[in-house]
Amino acid sequence: MTRLVAGNWKMNGSLAANRKLLDVLVVQPGVEMAVCVPFPYLAQLQERPRGLVLGAQDVSEFEVGAYTGEVSAAMLAEFGCRFVIVGHSERRALHGEGDLVVGRKARAALAHGLIPIVCVGETLVERDAGHAVSVIGRQLAAVLEVLGREAMARVVLAYEPVWAIGSGRSATVSQVEEVHAGIRGWLRGHGVAAEDVRILYGGSVKPENAAALFAARDVDGGLIGGASLVGEDFMAICRAAADAV
Ligand code: PGA
Repeated sequence: MTRLVAGNWKMNGSLAANRKLLDVLVVQPGVEMAVCVPFPYLAQLQERPRGLVLGAQDVSEFEVGAYTGEVSAAMLAEFGCRFVIVGHSERRALHGEGDLVVGRKARAALAHGLIPIVCVGETLVERDAGHAVSVIGRQLAAVLEVLGREAMARVVLAYEPVWAIGSGRSATVSQVEEVHAGIRGWLRGHGVAAEDVRILYGGSVKPENAAALFAARDVDGGLIGGASLVGEDFMAICRAAADAV
């Protein structure tokens, strides 16, 4: 399975800064490289390095109509997006997105040919209480309930422990392997074609730890926040993904 490295720019960028960043990005053989950009920059990204795949960071669960501020999957498709992040922990925490909403967003994306990157992950309190597995299971179950087994096999999953995001404190390789194997086992146990699902790791991936994380079992790529805004760092992470065996 080709590894996927997706940059999540979050609410960063400007026309000038994006241009500079894009100048540095060269798509590497052996890895799929994507950038998930703020909505207004989808137009700017119509011109981008050859092979760089385009994505967005959120999508409406609704089709069309009176939903002020929302952006539909059809609109993202029209701008050439292939991916859209759904259920990022920042949206769950700051915008009150519940598990079922995340599932409905994933369904809306798939209906328009987009691949949702569904984020799951536990907070530090949940991990310390020994609840990481059950929290992730609950998040996955809601998405499965909405999508059904066949569509579930078409999503990309991203394990993003909340405590590792933007904290400079990545999960360790053994923590990542344990959760990723758990997610794959969960999918299998629920009748989903688990081997078809790419499971990304996200949370303080940097050039220094990328090689070890991508070499970890059941890690099929990464979702990269802060380091995706620094061209050289994002390139180094993508190279590490391409080189990982
Ligand atoms: P980070 O963010 O790489 O800055 O930790 C990852 C994410 O939130 O997707």
